[in-house]
Amino acid sequence: MIVFITGANRGIGLYQTKYFLADGDTVIATYRDEAEAAELFALQKEHEDRCHTVQGDITADADVEGFKTFAEGLVPAIDILVNNAGIDIEQANPGIEEVGIDLLEHVFSVNTLGTVRVCKALLPLIRKSIQSTRGLIANTTSGLASMSNPVMMTRYGYMMSKVSINMLSRGMAFEFGENGPTVVAWSPGWVQTRLGTPAATYTLDEGGRGNVTTLKSITANQSGKVIDMSGEEWSF
Ligand SMILES: NC(=O)c1ccc[n+]([C@@H]2O[C@H](COP(=O)([O-])OP(=O)(O)OC[C@H]3O[C@@H](n4cnc5c(N)ncnc54)[C@H](OP(=O)(O)O)[C@@H]3O)[C@@H](O)[C@H]2O)c1
Repeated sequence: MIVFITGANRGIGLYQTKYFLADGDTVIATYRDEAEAAELFALQKEHEDRCHTVQGDITADADVEGFKTFAEGLVPAIDILVNNAGIDIEQANPGIEEVGIDLLEHVFSVNTLGTVRVCKALLPLIRKSIQSTRGLIANTTSGLASMSNPVMMTRYGYMMSKVSINMLSRGMAFEFGENGPTVVAWSPGWVQTRLGTPAATYTLDEGGRGNVTTLKSITANQSGKVIDMSGEEWSF
């Protein structure tokens, strides 16, 4: 399979890359900062025929156009797009009176609009997939976006931007219907990353392996659902 993963220089994206490569798949992995991408470059060196890297920020039109141009020059199709890049910069759980509008705008611009930008740019290549999913788009959400999750926090930007990911995915699945790519809101599990914190349930290896195995098991009839790392369908 041919896989495109954003934000793959560290955290969940890096370990998704590692395990897709271990399975023999081809991966195009994005990073922003060379200085933060040593582990990704090491994977690329180890699998130089199947691991390709491209630099870019998902908030920048020109960079995302660059992803498209790079992929078009390299592969005939994209079978799985993992919109993984994301941020959570409200670790302190601010109250609504403290949280800055500029901070909210920034989180939305990365988590939500960045994801939309990548979907729009790569759709022509995803539509060329010959897999039974007709190409899979996994837009990364979070348990904190679930209206029915009893765990509540006040990370407003993160929570609201990920709720938008759920509706984006549902809307795209509706738009594409039975003929188009499969689109899911993807919940990668609570993983020990910079964002997930060391208190998280899963190690990076457990998260990476679990993510890859389940992403590959998603079927066309799951389009429009929220799916978690264990393959369970969540309510919104
Ligand atoms: N970890 C968890 O427990 C957990 C749980 C639920 C959902 N998630 C979601 O899973 C995804 C990955 O999270 P993670 O835990 O692996 O986080 P992480 O370790 O902080 O990694 C985030 C990745 O996103 C990239 N990124 C951030 N802003 C970007 C931008 N504007 N353009 C391009 N890339 C950008 C980062 O690149 P730089 O190195 O350049 O910053 C990094 O590669 C996120 O969408 C997150 O919300 C994580």
